[in-house]
Order: sequence, then structure tokens, then C-alpha cells
Amino acid sequence: MLRRTVNCGEARESHVGQEVVLNGWVNSYRDHGGLIFIDLRDRNGLTQLVFDREDGALQSVLDGADKLRNEDCIAVKGKVRVRIGGENPKLATGKVEVVVMHLDVLNKTENPPFLPDDMLALPNEDLRLKYRYLDLRRPKMQSILGTRSRALKVARDYFHGEGFLEVETPILYKSTPEGAREFLVPVRNVPGTFYALPQSPQLFKQILMVSGADRYMQICRCFRDEDPRADRQPEFTQIDLEMSFVRREHIMETMEGFIKYFWKQMLGLDIPTIQRMTFRDAMENYGIDRPDTRYDLRIKDISEFAAKLDFKVFQDKLALGADRPAFNSKRGVVKCMRVPGGAEKLTRKITDGYTEFVKRFGAGGVAVVKVIKGEDGNAKLDTGIAKFLEPVKADFMAASGAQIGDTILFFADTYAIATKAAGELRQQVARDMGLVPKPGAEGGPWNFLWVIDFPMFERNKETGKWVAMHHPFTAPRDDQRDLFVNADVDDEVAIESIVSAGYDIVLNGSEIAGGSVRIHDKDVQSKVFKLLGLTPESAKEKFSFLLEALSYGAPPHAGIAFGFDRLIMHICGTDNIRDVIAFPKTQIGQDLMTRAPSTVPEKQLTDLHVKSTWDAVAHAAAQAAAQAANNAPPPKA
Ligand code: AMO
Repeated sequence: MLRRTVNCGEARESHVGQEVVLNGWVNSYRDHGGLIFIDLRDRNGLTQLVFDREDGALQSVLDGADKLRNEDCIAVKGKVRVRIGGENPKLATGKVEVVVMHLDVLNKTENPPFLPDDMLALPNEDLRLKYRYLDLRRPKMQSILGTRSRALKVARDYFHGEGFLEVETPILYKSTPEGAREFLVPVRNVPGTFYALPQSPQLFKQILMVSGADRYMQICRCFRDEDPRADRQPEFTQIDLEMSFVRREHIMETMEGFIKYFWKQMLGLDIPTIQRMTFRDAMENYGIDRPDTRYDLRIKDISEFAAKLDFKVFQDKLALGADRPAFNSKRGVVKCMRVPGGAEKLTRKITDGYTEFVKRFGAGGVAVVKVIKGEDGNAKLDTGIAKFLEPVKADFMAASGAQIGDTILFFADTYAIATKAAGELRQQVARDMGLVPKPGAEGGPWNFLWVIDFPMFERNKETGKWVAMHHPFTAPRDDQRDLFVNADVDDEVAIESIVSAGYDIVLNGSEIAGGSVRIHDKDVQSKVFKLLGLTPESAKEKFSFLLEALSYGAPPHAGIAFGFDRLIMHICGTDNIRDVIAFPKTQIGQDLMTRAPSTVPEKQLTDLHVKSTWDAVAHAAAQAAAQAANNAPPPKA
């Protein structure tokens, strides 16, 4: 095989007259009578090849060229010349072409299911994932892989420069209650036992602090058995970090330094000081703990105003948990969101859809009112609940900040439900109003935000049990330690109000990192376990190593993990996480190329002492019965 001398993105005018060897794939093929043009592609770019009878190409070479098809893999030897047909300014190699003297067909291709050409419409994603090797040949995907590779180096450069030690931690791990469901690995040698794949290296990095590692980093794989989403995969990558002898401010400073370095190196951009927002302010104004502040749709609590309204729906909701303090999850509230320009843009059909939308979050619906210009030129309330508000219009306008042209959306429920519904709907409204800039460097601004002062605990929606909002190793904020240690575990209101020393970094509404100061004090850690319903025995069984380690002079420590795939999504301007992972999983966690997950031979299960309870036949029958019941005509009255 001919040995490559230049890649397909390399040839320039300085190469004119030189003999070169190129390898790559046939990207396009044009036959102009005596001349055949081929664009040859590799991951560096495209170079135009010319098979020119006039310029001495051998008949055998011309015959070979004649048979070439898109995606054949070839090597060529030829001479670089200035392009005769004029420059192609779109290509880095666009001033030159290579006149081919020798052609090696390295491998003919089957007829590909699609061509990896960014100029063509994208095939559907399942097909792209099935033939991922073809999809990855697309220049855009090659560029993303390149960006990702560069980003790994930039991250390492920064953290190595700051004295972080790169340590690898086990993948075969122990089941821990970090929050998500785990993937389990049965163990042949110890029947009936399982490893768990790590949701993150959380405990190991803390143990490394006890070991004196001082500053740890790892670019690591994490595994969580959750349903994939646009920015979530069951298997993903973190830049995982932990530091000893630091408090919250120190670690935030080091991590902010990383963000600035990373954006400068990757995109040449200077990121200003990152603003901070408390969890409560985020929830109050944006209804979510990762606010997208690129658009200014605000949520406002108007409970005080609503309490004076003669409107039963609001009154009933306000009566919920009235004995609880403000901001308590179960206390009834009325919130509203002002949508400037919504009166015109948000049609009845759209706002009707909002009721269905918020039902997903447990809310009963959304009340709507439009503020239009009346005949007298003043504001007039229209549609929805206008008739209840008209008598107190002036108060309403003052309480909500409404202006002519607005649509106002109302959320009446418990604090937890109203806030969640408003926060989720806010994002949909922004899309409907066309307020969301395109992601990435060509889109809108880079709105970074530290979100701090999270509650330590929240109630799990399904089980009703307390769960750690970040994870069970997160410390209370310094001033909250004694409150926490002295709080009665049955005092619901007291527990809900304890603030943690956790912090997230949010970028344009997406959580790109999360971490916390850790508990390094055995008493606090035991109390957390108790609150989470772990008996001293089960805590010991699961975490004796951690509790023990904490008792051997554990230093104060804190850490954070960046979602590496999400960082790349932002840098590359895509909102699909599957675009930035070479071999991602589908929405139902499948790898369509390798067809994982798959069944395994019975023998393999037996060796592992595992018996599957899955009954495919019974499942199919149950599904068919459900389908039939759905299709059955309604019973006669
Ligand atoms: P956390 O669970 O917040 O913290 O994860 C840290 C960051 O990882 C990213 N991330 C994900 N990315 C893609 N797919 C997923 N399924 C997924 N889940 C999380 C997010 C998130 O901010 N051990 C702690 C960190 C610490 O406390 O130091 C942890 O894993 O960007």
C-alpha cells in the first residue's frame, strides 16, 4: 500500500509541483469526458483529485477511476497543481488539485444505506446509529470527535496545572444509594452477589482525600439506569474532581477558573465572573433550579393579591397547608408568569395545550388572561379568568406587572407543584414565543450561573421518604450544621429548611456541573443516614468503609463533577447528547449498531447463578390483551 505523505486537508499552493500520496474515501465523483474529478475525504478534509488523460494519466488508472463509487477506500499518488477550474474558497485545499498518476483501490464498498455528506438531508437517527461508522465519517461528526478530543486535553492541562492528581477508580463497584437506579453485574465466584457500576466515583474520591491525594481528578465513565433524554445517557462521562482543605469559596474559585480557561482555549471567548443565584431565588423567579436566563420570562408569587379575589379555584388552593411557613413545599400558592407579546402570539390553541402540559407535573391546569387594548385605549382583560379580575384590574396590573399585549398565565397549587409546573411551562412558552437562541457559538449569549444554597433534603415523590437533594455525603452549609445536628428527624418543617453546602453550575438552562462540600464529621454523616431511613446496621453494612475512613483524620474536603458530554454539546452547539458521543444509546437505552443489550445463552446465566424471570410470551400476550381492550368498542349503555 502506498504510504501517505499528506492528509486530505493539507495540500496548499506550497505543495505545487510535489509528488504526494493521499489515502481516503471517495466523497464525490464527476465525469467530464476526458477528465474525472473525485473529492477525496479523510477526517482532515477534502482534496480534489483529477484523472486527466491530457496530463498523462495511464489508461489503467483511468479505467480504475471509471469504476470508483462513493465511499470506496483508495490510495493515490499524484502531483499537486494549481486548480485549473478556479479556486474553491469553501475548502482549505481549494487552491490546488492532485493529478493522479497511480491509483490503489484499497477496498470497494457495498452500496451504502446513506452517504456521509453534510450537504444532504440527514437520514433518520435510528439509521445513523445502526450504521454509526458511516455517520461518523460525516465532516460534522469528525469535527465533533475532534472537539471532544481537544477538550479532554484542555481539561487535563488545566487540572494538572493546578496540581490535581489523575487517579482511576474501579468500574466494578458497590451498590450505593446515590439517587439513580444502578446497573448490576452478577459475580460468578461469589454466588448471589453483585457489583454495581458506579453512578459516579463519589465515595472513592472522598476516600482518596482521606488517603492524602489532596487534589483528585478523573475523566471517568458513570452509569445510571435512567431513561435517556436529549441531554442524558445511561453511560456518560464526567470530569470528576475533589479537593482537600477547602471550603465552598475555594472550590468555586478553582472551578470558575476552569470554565474560563476551557472557554478561552476551546472558543477563544472571555467568560466574565459567574453570577450566583440561590436555589430559592431560582425557584421563585424561574420555577427551576437550572434557570435559563437568556430570556426574561419571570414567575411571580401573587398569593397575597389572589387571596382577595372572589375566585374559588384560587381560594381552595391557597387553603392548602396554610399553617405551614412560606416556601414550604406543601403550602398553597398562586403564581403567575407574564408573557410580553403573548396576547398576539399565544393563540387559544396553544394556551389550551398548556393545561395538558402542566398535568404531567401534577397541576390541574393553567388559568389564562390576555391584556389587550380596550376601545378607550386602556388595558382590557380578555378571555380565561378575565371576569374575575376585571373588578380589581388596577390591583391585578400592579401585582402581576402586566402590560398591554401580555398574556398572563396562572399556577395555583401547592408550592412544589405550582413552582414545578410554572418552571417547566416557562421553557415551553419561551419556545412558543421564539425566545430561545440557537445553542453554541453562533447562537445567543453564554449565561453561566452558580446555583447555591440548595435544601439538604426533599421528599421522594414516589416513596414519600426523605432523600438527599444532592447526595448523602453533602454537608450542611457551615451555619446550618448545628441546626441540622439538633433538628428532630420527625420535624418535617425544620428538616425541609436545612440548607446544604451544594452548588451547581448552570449554562443556558442546562446543569453542566454539580458538587458540594462533604461531610467529614462522623456524627453529621450518621444523622444523614438516619434521616434517609438507613438503620445504623444497614449504614454500617453499606458504608462501614466510609464511616471508618472518616474517623481516621479525614480532612475537610469538597468536590464537583462536570458533565463532560454536556460541555461538548454547548461547545459544539447541539442540543442532542447523542451527537457528541461516538457510540451513544437510543431513547430506550439500545446500541443499534452492536444490538446491545442482548440475551445471553442459558449456560452463561447458570454460571453466574442468575435466573431470568422475564417471560417474553406472557409479556406479548399481556400487551396484546391491553391493545385489544383499547380498541374494543365502548360498552353499550
Ligand atoms: P451529579 O449527579 O450532579 O453529581 O452529576 C454531575 C454532572 O454530570 C452530568 N450528568 C449527566 N450527563 C449525561 N447523562 C446523565 N445521565 C447525567 N447525569 C448527570 C450533569 C451533572 O451536573 N458525584 C457527584 C458530583 C460531586 O458531588 O462531586 C455527581 O455525580 O452535567
